[in-house]
Amino acid sequence: MTMPVFYDALTVHTQSHDYPIVITENAAIENSSMAQQVAPYIGGQQVLIVTNETVAPLYLKALEDELSVQFTVRVCVLPDGEQYKNQTSIDQIYDALMAEHFNRDVTLIALGGGVVGDMTGFAAASFMRGVNFIQIPTTLLSQVDSSVGGKTGINHAQGKNMIGAFWQPQMVLADMSTLKTLPARELSAGIAEIIKYALIMDETFLTWLEANLPAMMALDLAVLGEAVKRCCQYKADVVAQDERESGVRALLNFGHTFGHVIETNEGYGNWLHGEAVAAGMVQAAELSQKIGWLTHDEVARIKRVLILGNLPITPPVIEVETALNLMGHDKKVKHGQIRLILLKSIGDAVLTNDFDHELLSEVLSQYSA
Ligand code: NAD
Ligand code: GLY
Repeated sequence: MTMPVFYDALTVHTQSHDYPIVITENAAIENSSMAQQVAPYIGGQQVLIVTNETVAPLYLKALEDELSVQFTVRVCVLPDGEQYKNQTSIDQIYDALMAEHFNRDVTLIALGGGVVGDMTGFAAASFMRGVNFIQIPTTLLSQVDSSVGGKTGINHAQGKNMIGAFWQPQMVLADMSTLKTLPARELSAGIAEIIKYALIMDETFLTWLEANLPAMMALDLAVLGEAVKRCCQYKADVVAQDERESGVRALLNFGHTFGHVIETNEGYGNWLHGEAVAAGMVQAAELSQKIGWLTHDEVARIKRVLILGNLPITPPVIEVETALNLMGHDKKVKHGQIRLILLKSIGDAVLTNDFDHELLSEVLSQYSA
């Protein structure tokens, strides 16, 4: 029998409440372990598990069966894909809640990647003006980023994550063993967000990643667990300082303004979020170099580590005007000015509009037709 392994638990401090991130291994496949971990955080009797058609056959049954001993459990299985991160899917969750006459005592459980997590959180934030939810992230990306910190929402045809709410979960349960079934491309997408933390916050973590990425890519769960723990700690620290992104939290969006252009322009789901962030981080690094902050060697180092993670370092061809127009929808735009996260050096990021916008056009034009 495979024994569950407990790695660590961290606490996220927020204005509404504090909550734990529990990092384990094998909770998903032991009959009762995942349910045992989340049960104490379920307030009432009603539970709606929200998942998708890919994750459901893998991890739903054990969780549903075990929770059903104690709670009234219903399931909402959504179609899989970023292109379904929209109002229609949210309506599907509301329909499931209404059909069961579930009320304010309900707890929603997000079982899946960032798409399921963001949508379940948004449904929880808005159903009856707000009910509890729990995150069980099953992709590396959602374990290191999206399940923590309470950003929830859906896409609009003209912009990523344009509709949403800040709504914190009651707990996060990250089981490393779920990564065994994750496609390699999705693992790499998560590694992009891990590299992001190193680039914006901690050069020594980049050195650690350069040494440990091969083990992570080979699915060494203990090393992945260590990386998840470090990233969740970085994120918990940032969220505790700036839950609603009026300052330091914006730095977590390094590469995202460029990346969102790619995701929106190429059609949701064609470039994975992490892949778009990887190419976006290269563009942000190149702009940082043009401004005179990063050196050529630092940009080369960033590209090398992304390649080690099997990630793209070149965005698709997009016209400069199209890119600038899409950037104009970014949530960080202030007084009509595009603001970007740029690097003064590796591990030192700033949010700024204080750069020559011609240089931005120069970076974008390198990748236009
Ligand atoms: P995803 O949710 O689409 O999951 C990726 C794919 O893996 C999907 O096909 C999914 O069904 C499948 N999958 C999930 N777990 C699996 C498992 N254990 N085994 C096999 N397949 C599995 O994508 P993602 O990368 O997890 O999340 C991306 C989303 O997260 C984007 O919408 C992005 O905007 C959002 N995001 C949100 C935040 C935030 O702070 N809220 C942060 C970063 C990203
Ligand atoms: N992923 C960025 C944030 O949570 O703020």
